[in-house]
Amino acid sequence: MSERVLVTGALGCVGAWAVKAILDDGDEPVGYDLGDADHRLRLVLSPEERESLTLVRGDITDADALGRVLDDERITRVVHLAALQVPFCRENPALGARVNVVGTVNVFEAVGARLDRIPGVAYASSAAVYGPADPSPAPESGGLAPGTIYGVYKLANEGTARLYAAESAVPSVGIRPYVVYGPGRDQGMTAGPTLAMEAAARGEGFAIAYGGAAQYDYAPDVGRAFVRAAAHADGAVVANFPGVRAPMAEVVAAIEAAAPEAAGQISFADTPLPFPAELETGALERALGPLPATPLADGVRATIERFRAG
Ligand SMILES: NC(=O)c1ccc[n+]([C@@H]2O[C@H](COP(=O)([O-])OP(=O)(O)OC[C@H]3O[C@@H](n4cnc5c(N)ncnc54)[C@H](O)[C@@H]3O)[C@@H](O)[C@H]2O)c1
Repeated sequence: MSERVLVTGALGCVGAWAVKAILDDGDEPVGYDLGDADHRLRLVLSPEERESLTLVRGDITDADALGRVLDDERITRVVHLAALQVPFCRENPALGARVNVVGTVNVFEAVGARLDRIPGVAYASSAAVYGPADPSPAPESGGLAPGTIYGVYKLANEGTARLYAAESAVPSVGIRPYVVYGPGRDQGMTAGPTLAMEAAARGEGFAIAYGGAAQYDYAPDVGRAFVRAAAHADGAVVANFPGVRAPMAEVVAAIEAAAPEAAGQISFADTPLPFPAELETGALERALGPLPATPLADGVRATIERFRAG
């Protein structure tokens, strides 16, 4: 029997790729999202695939509505991605806390009441749990002094998960992506490299607002990892995403190799991100087994091709 997988934040970048992974598995995705912008779904899914997605408009801060969708749609797996990203939390910290912190508590409460049917919660934490003072490579057990309020909220999600496992036996896997890139990545502090790929696909230049080295996580691989994590039912795993470490010059070189017409037109600032350049990884694959790991050059080329195809 196929699984019915709820994806909160299904209209977002990672959400669209999680929906794609669910469909590729032959399972049934149900999206739960506040928004109505379906441009990422149109970029990622074929028209037939979009037909197979049930979309429920709803707010993650509304615990009753969330519980209703779990029951009405007979949900058997949960991938929780709905969140406000760094700039939005900075602009409106109270709303950020409601969505990112209270919303995640709602997911754990709702799943905890339905453990007979749903094995646990896969949820998005972030490399933003680290701060600029953390060492690089940053130990996977670290991430206790975030440099942004968004990171503080993500750290609260990890604490929530730990206590729901200890006190209410709700298993979870929290994945900490770093810079997600790929089709659909068009908002947030680290969207610059993907926006540069989109510009390059049109033969245009782009100025990326940060530099330094970071880890780059290909959105289809990230979506796949979350879907795998939703079937895991043991403890409270928190893991960095095993992406590719690269300095920005290497990212730009990969863009120029895939779109030579944009050569010399992609620039970047010197300022590094307020996170360690490199993160220790291993916990995710120890919990879930081997995961797809697309090399940077291949991910950048595929992204530019997707943008060219429209
Ligand atoms: N993109 C990255 O580089 C990155 C890195 C680390 C962690 N993350 C985390 O991964 C998750 C997915 O990221 P993304 O890039 O797909 O984000 P995104 O901004 O593209 O999508 C987030 C989605 O959540 C929805 N949403 C916002 N508030 C909501 C609410 N109150 N109720 C229901 N839906 C709501 C939005 O409408 C949007 O479709 C997020 O939790 C994000 O914090 C992302």
